[in-house]
Amino acid sequence: KKDLKGQLLEINRQAAKYFFYQLKSERGTIAYEYLTNRKLSDETISKFGLGYSNKYSNDLYQYLKQLGYSDEILKQSGLVSIDETKGAYDKFWNRVMFPIMDVNNRVIGFGGRVMGEGEPKYLNSPETLLFDKSRNLYGLNVARTSRKHNMLICEGYMDVIALHQAGFNNAVASLGTAFTGLQANLLKRYTSEVLLTYDSDGAGTKAALRAIPILKEAGLSIKVINMQPYKDPDEFIKALGADEFQKRIDEAQNSFYFEIEVLERDYDLNDPEQKTKFFNEVAKKLLVFTEEIERNNYIEAMDRKYHVGFDNLRKLVNHYGATL
Ligand code: GTP
Ligand code: MN
Ligand code: MN
Ligand code: MN
Ligand code: MN
Repeated sequence: KKDLKGQLLEINRQAAKYFFYQLKSERGTIAYEYLTNRKLSDETISKFGLGYSNKYSNDLYQYLKQLGYSDEILKQSGLVSIDETKGAYDKFWNRVMFPIMDVNNRVIGFGGRVMGEGEPKYLNSPETLLFDKSRNLYGLNVARTSRKHNMLICEGYMDVIALHQAGFNNAVASLGTAFTGLQANLLKRYTSEVLLTYDSDGAGTKAALRAIPILKEAGLSIKVINMQPYKDPDEFIKALGADEFQKRIDEAQNSFYFEIEVLERDYDLNDPEQKTKFFNEVAKKLLVFTEEIERNNYIEAMDRKYHVGFDNLRKLVNHYGATL
């Protein structure tokens, strides 16, 4: 008899097949049209194994029961809830389904998107014996086979899929949570450079700023892609196409410049007092460079951009930390 983990993997695989089959059936038309409207091809739908969880309250449960699984193990799969009084019901109801694979192509969980408006927009499998959001990346099972020398990190399932469809087969996303050190170390096994392509809204900028030190800690080199005036890679590619996105990749900004640009938004550089505060913050940030030549190169760059004076800024950096 298979161990528990093996059985849970089998259940997820069966569920993914079931959702896929539902998408292709008559009752899945609404979901299939949703995906087609979002410009996904049949090939892409198959490649990512997208599916549909239908409107019946416990259809998947019935199906899995009929395959011989016990209530006990189905509960542990996170796909169904079994209530003493209300009985069994499926966790995912009337959603477009995204199976989440680990690097070995094993289905470890699911994300489900509501079609149109509704809360929550995305519903994810709960943490299970198989599913740990903090140590997996969506799309890495495909991206790991990419021959590109870097990886694109974006926010969402749809971003990864749109990027892959446009030929950027090196895109991954964290699973709707903050980027973790475990994910950074996982990436480090497959690449040495990452390009952040988080949403260009406030939440995406914050998420990028939080991810940068974590990625740096793992020893990855980091650049940031400017997606303006679009909100995320999916919308960018839909509007401007793959060639324009490639240009944005080629123009990607050093992550330090990105951090400084975001910092700058909080200060009015026409006001001497605020300008002074800003340079003090820049000086503190320059302390991350612990090699003299590198630090000097960045001080020089800041001088070119803000005309602060190389020696002035260097003194200020030395005031905040060890002189190199
Ligand atoms: P689309 O609207 O389908 O294009 O999705 P998006 O990826 O652009 O959405 P958004 O930028 O709002 O979210 C990015 C990612 O965060 C999603 O792909 C999900 O993984 C996750 N996420 C978004 N909304 C929710 C939510 O309501 N609950 C949970 N748990 N995760 C969410
Ligand atoms: Mn159902
Ligand atoms: Mn977002
Ligand atoms: Mn988005
Ligand atoms: Mn989007």
